[in-house]
This record gives sequence, C-alpha cells and structure tokens, in this order.
Amino acid sequence: MLRQEINTLLTPIHGFLHCQTPDSWIDAAIQPDNQSILLRDHANCELKASQTAMWLIRKYAVDAASGEQLLAWAKPYEDFVYRGARDGIFHARKNGLSAPLTPKAGFAHGQALIDKMVRLIKEEFHHFEQVIEIMDARGIPYQPLEAGRYAKGLMRAARTHEPATLVDKLIIGACIEARSCERFAKVAPHLDDELQKFYISLLRSEARHYQDYLTLAETIAGEDIRDRIQTIGEREAELIQAPDSQFRFHSGAPA
Ligand SMILES: [Fe+2]
Ligand SMILES: [Fe+2]
Repeated sequence: MLRQEINTLLTPIHGFLHCQTPDSWIDAAIQPDNQSILLRDHANCELKASQTAMWLIRKYAVDAASGEQLLAWAKPYEDFVYRGARDGIFHARKNGLSAPLTPKAGFAHGQALIDKMVRLIKEEFHHFEQVIEIMDARGIPYQPLEAGRYAKGLMRAARTHEPATLVDKLIIGACIEARSCERFAKVAPHLDDELQKFYISLLRSEARHYQDYLTLAETIAGEDIRDRIQTIGEREAELIQAPDSQFRFHSGAPA
C-alpha cells in the first residue's frame, strides 16, 4: 500500500480518536519477550471481533434459526480456541454461512446490521486464520491468554436501556476498530518485514469496520449522538493512556 493511501485511511481515524498510541506502548511491543503475547492477543482480538458481531446480529436482527447458522459458522474457530481442535479452521471460510440470514420482524435496521456485520465477521475470521498461520510458521503455540482491561473497560461506558445500549455498543465497536487501525499503522514500521506487510494489509478493512460501526450507530440512533461519541471516545483515550500493568494489543501505557 502506498504511503498516500495509508495517510488517507488514517486521517479520519486520527480525527476520531482522542489520542495516539503512546510511544511507550510501541517500545514494549517491540521487546522480544512481548512478540508472542502480541500475536496471541491479536488472534484473540480477531476472534472476539467476530464473536461480538455475531452476538449483535443474534440479539437484535435475526430469529433463532438464523442464530443457529451463525453459531455453526463460528464452531470450527471456537473448537480450535477452546478445545484445541486444529483441523476445522482453515476450511471454515469456505463453509461460511449455509444460507443468507433472514431479518426478524420489528427491527427496521435488521438488514443493514446483517449486511455490514456478516462481511465484518468473514474478514475477522480470515484475519484470525492469517495470525494463526504466522504463529504456526514461527513455532508459537496457540495458548489461551487472559483478556486485558480495554474491551471490558469500554463496555462499562454503555448505557443500560435500549436502544441506547445497542447504539453505545456500536460506538464502542467503532472505537475498537479505529484504535486497532491506528495501532497497526503505528507499530508496523518497527516490526519485521512479514508482520509489517501483514499489519499494513489490515488497515483497509479495519478502517471500513470503524466506519460501518459508526454508520450503524448513527442510523439506528436516529438522533444526534455526538455527545455519546465524545463520552465513549474520552473513556477510550483514558484506557489507552493510563498506566497498565499488563501488555496486550489494546493495553494502556506500560506501567
Ligand atoms: Fe481484524
Ligand atoms: Fe476489524
């Protein structure tokens, strides 16, 4: 990707986020000791991104039968991560969804949510496979890793009544995607050639995921949500800048 295209992708992301990744996080990320944590946690983030999108579709947009189709799509990945079954994942992409999902009645934005989230899920599963391939080639075994504070900390900012909860969760999704994009771009030049190319190759989809979440939040809210974007964005920047004792893909400034 050309520098100019990268800048075009990053300009709205930098405008949306309230801070850039601290240099101290980059220093930690390039420590040899943290290389396997970075990849293992990155794999977790990709899976978590697809699971969250599936959860949104299942909760808000489809009936039980379509929900089962989504669970079947996720099964090979979850078997791999939770049960160590290796064989399914690299074939799962072909399997995908067995049929288009049917939106349930009573939610006007069901089809829009399904369309954007199904594409996102497909891409996140593919990213997950790509991370696992790189880990395999480097002899880094997939081992569970305790999640950091970032996603949980952001979710605490969501309001607890509908449709505000959904709107806030979509804004949180936009923040996570935007941060991932910003961080991939910032850390890439400090990594080896393979990871550098890989991380830059992810920028386009992560920038679109950010935009898709934000568009859904605005459409579904049907009202001005700038104050929510501001509040959640401030919370996000706190989590990125406050000292963090754990190193993870989305961790704060190393304590
Ligand atoms: Fe991704
Ligand atoms: Fe993404």
